[in-house]
Amino acid sequence: MEPQIRRLKEDDDRKSFDCGVSSMNDWLRNIANQHQKKNLSRTYVATLSDTHQEVVGYYALAAFLVETEGMPVKRLPDKVSAVLLARLAVNKNHKGQGLGAYLLMHALDTVLTTSMAVGVQCVVVDAIDENAAGFYRKYGFEPFTDAPRRLFLPIETIKQT
Ligand SMILES: CC(C)(COP(=O)(O)OP(=O)(O)OC[C@H]1O[C@@H](n2cnc3c(N)ncnc32)[C@H](O)[C@@H]1OP(=O)(O)O)[C@@H](O)C(=O)NCCC(=O)NCCS
Repeated sequence: MEPQIRRLKEDDDRKSFDCGVSSMNDWLRNIANQHQKKNLSRTYVATLSDTHQEVVGYYALAAFLVETEGMPVKRLPDKVSAVLLARLAVNKNHKGQGLGAYLLMHALDTVLTTSMAVGVQCVVVDAIDENAAGFYRKYGFEPFTDAPRRLFLPIETIKQT
């Protein structure tokens, strides 16, 4: 079944969400809505039908100012505007079926649309472990030289793909 991706709603069922990483489960259950209300981040959820409220995957985006030291790109100011991919996770029962990649492509598309209206140099993600870093590297994210779990993807690269 084709997943639907849309903005998080207050009455979405987030209690049963389990991606295997408790901090990411707790964030969706307890923080995501508050952050949305305070305009700190936007959360997008995947469900498996329009009417179904159960969340099977999610990602969250926030505006970010990133220091370019350690970023292997020439001729950039010390800090550039970016979008932080603050969270991305898939329910354990739905892993390995392409949903993580689908959420990531949706997130990059959302950032690309944003970048038409507001200058954004890149997308940045802080991978929680080496496995997660491997997932992002597969899609072209490059590690910072001084912090290998911090990865970035320039908007120019997203435009070309
Ligand atoms: C990382 C995560 C989002 C991947 O989601 P998923 O739905 O299982 O991934 P997909 O099925 O879409 O995989 C897409 C591709 O990425 C690859 N992939 C998945 N996890 C990977 C990893 N850890 N390292 C390298 N490649 C990986 C898959 O093999 C697949 O490749 P293929 O298209 O060549 O077969 C998911 O495992 C997850 O939620 N993990 C816990 C939370 C987490 O670590 N999030 C990242 C936070 S920074």
